[in-house]
Amino acid sequence: MNDRRWKSLDESTEKRLNEQIKIEAVSAAHYLAMASWCDQNGYAYSAKYLLDQAEEERQHMMKFFTYVLEVGGAAKSPDIQGIRHDYGSFKEIFEVMLDQEISVSQSINELVDHCNKVKDHTTQSFLRWFVDEQREEEANARRALELFHVIGNDGPSHYLIDQEIAKIRATQPKEK
Ligand code: FEO
Repeated sequence: MNDRRWKSLDESTEKRLNEQIKIEAVSAAHYLAMASWCDQNGYAYSAKYLLDQAEEERQHMMKFFTYVLEVGGAAKSPDIQGIRHDYGSFKEIFEVMLDQEISVSQSINELVDHCNKVKDHTTQSFLRWFVDEQREEEANARRALELFHVIGNDGPSHYLIDQEIAKIRATQPKEK
């Protein structure tokens, strides 16, 4: 059913939303790989934190996916390849996490800019939740990295940092 009257979504917006579906799915896959690395290296609290983060990203993907369907578009199930499983250090996990979250924020902001341009107020309103969510996710990733500066970056410090990582999630507001 390709009749334009059946959907309220501009073709270019539909394409960008499908790109965002893939970005969220890739984020989930990266967090799973990071969780596995942490578990294998003895960072049990961080592994749990990253597993929960992977689940959140999957929920983000599903929000985009169901939104595209709701407005009559064709949501695409993302094809994901090339997920990195090797990390050089515990700290690198959180450096990559912050880079990833900053990149997702940029992508959401560009989507909002696009909606402004094509005057798609419905999608823009839908995106507001993600703008707020990204602020929180970046803050959490920055907090994790900060721990390496305030506690240290050696073996005993890593033991403490791993426990502090669990507290970041415990103080997060509940997902809506
Ligand atoms: Fe859904 Fe953290 O990007």
